[in-house]
Amino acid sequence: MSLILPMPGNEAFAADLIAHLGAELGAIEARQFPDGEHYVRIRSDVAGRDVQIVCTLARSDAAFLPLIFAADAARELGAKSVSLIAPYLGYMRQDKRFHPGEAISVRSFARVLSSTFDRLITVDPHLHRLASLEEAYSIPATAVHAAPLLGSWIRASVPEPFVIGPDAESEQWAAEVGRAADAPHVVLTKERFGDRDVRITFPDLQRYRGRRPVLIDDIASSGRTLITAAEHLRGEGFSPPDCAIVHAIFGGDAYDAVSTVAGRIVSTDSVPHPSNRLALAPLIATAMRSHST
Ligand code: R5P
Repeated sequence: MSLILPMPGNEAFAADLIAHLGAELGAIEARQFPDGEHYVRIRSDVAGRDVQIVCTLARSDAAFLPLIFAADAARELGAKSVSLIAPYLGYMRQDKRFHPGEAISVRSFARVLSSTFDRLITVDPHLHRLASLEEAYSIPATAVHAAPLLGSWIRASVPEPFVIGPDAESEQWAAEVGRAADAPHVVLTKERFGDRDVRITFPDLQRYRGRRPVLIDDIASSGRTLITAAEHLRGEGFSPPDCAIVHAIFGGDAYDAVSTVAGRIVSTDSVPHPSNRLALAPLIATAMRSHST
């Protein structure tokens, strides 16, 4: 039976996984010395065990070093394998050198995780120019897809919906959510001119009159994509759109700002947030089971 070790802040997610897996829950103690350096101690016997460390990697800078220390400790203490369950995988943005001298952080982050863990399981990683995680990660890496969860929520909770994907690249994903929601879908054309400067072009929405718009997005960060789209929909006379999001990052006051123009906002629990309604543990447990057989 594998041993699930939650890093601090990931206990609730780990408990949900245990409920779907029948694995054993272990414990990690982590704290900081007065100078800010990290202390990590594994409080469970890991010798000979398949160890799965659960650590979401949103705002990952603070979580990263203790995670590496815990994984190294597990290996040194005799763990048979050490896997990372990261419901949200950070540092997926800078996957090329856009300007001379820039660090390609996707690669560095992937190199350290790949040299520390035997396997990675995550949810809808934000792949831009990479076709798959394996282009950056040298360990087996599984991407679980949350589209069925978003689609089921829409189907059960929104009467007469139509689904709106954030950009042209989301076409296939929006189609998948639309199928699961039993709803038509459209995608927007998005141009980003800065972290908080997003311009969006809508297709003709006349045929969706009388339906309720649902904005979907894999990540809500500054919230500008959702806000710009919601304002456009209001201008066209639609009701405030519900929003279904995979990774609720919501930096600063983004959540409040989106709330003022949107209807309901729901997200998966990949990043702990008040909007979390869609539990990922069943999907991740299925992925974990299929890799342990
Ligand atoms: C973009 O490629 C993503 O799919 C999201 O639309 C984007 O990350 C959202 O960011 P923000 O909330 O800052 O507009």
